[in-house]
Amino acid sequence: MGFPASTPVLAAALEGRRLDVLVNNAGIYGPRDLRLGAIDYEAFRAVLETNTLGPVRLTEALLPNLRAGARKTVVTVSSIMGSIARTQSPGALVYRTSKAAVNMAMRSIATELGGEGFTVVVVHPGWVRTDMGGPNATLDVGTSVEHLVRLVERLRPTDNGRFFDHDGSELPW
Ligand SMILES: NC(=O)c1ccc[n+]([C@@H]2O[C@H](COP(=O)([O-])OP(=O)(O)OC[C@H]3O[C@@H](n4cnc5c(N)ncnc54)[C@H](OP(=O)(O)O)[C@@H]3O)[C@@H](O)[C@H]2O)c1
Repeated sequence: MGFPASTPVLAAALEGRRLDVLVNNAGIYGPRDLRLGAIDYEAFRAVLETNTLGPVRLTEALLPNLRAGARKTVVTVSSIMGSIARTQSPGALVYRTSKAAVNMAMRSIATELGGEGFTVVVVHPGWVRTDMGGPNATLDVGTSVEHLVRLVERLRPTDNGRFFDHDGSELPW
């Protein structure tokens, strides 16, 4: 079941429950050969649906739960590949676009909810040895998760609208 169908099911299951922290982690890279001149727009749409619309859908659907929660925190696992400032070489057009877009969506949501005491941030998990990151990635899953948990525990409303690396340093948009 994709996000459009599964989000209302999750929201209904959690109705009336407080949620302190929402972590939007699910993501896809899309086909590796989506190069300029050979873009598959159906695949592009699917990547946007998961990486960009998915986190927005979930955040919107779970707002009542988050508003009732103690920390009002939304953490979206984005990527350094969504940093426009850091994009200096070609490739990964579709994935980069989806992550830059989710960065902007979360920054917009941060400005909208900041007045209510929300902390809405995006994070880069590092290059991690998962199915997506592959075997040559520099971090194992445990280390990345440990760093991210430490970062999330330290988040405060003054961090609202920021883009963090897994080690807690700030990344350029
Ligand atoms: N690995 C890296 O080096 C790296 C670097 C930067 C950012 N990231 C980001 O980190 C996040 C986690 O990636 P990963 O490395 O763990 O990738 P992964 O190994 O490919 O795992 C992706 C996860 O997302 C889930 N998922 C994908 N589409 C979904 C959907 N439509 N609905 C629900 N769940 C869905 C998958 O569930 P199923 O297995 O059930 O499909 C899987 O659990 C992603 O947002 C990714 O973009 C990863």
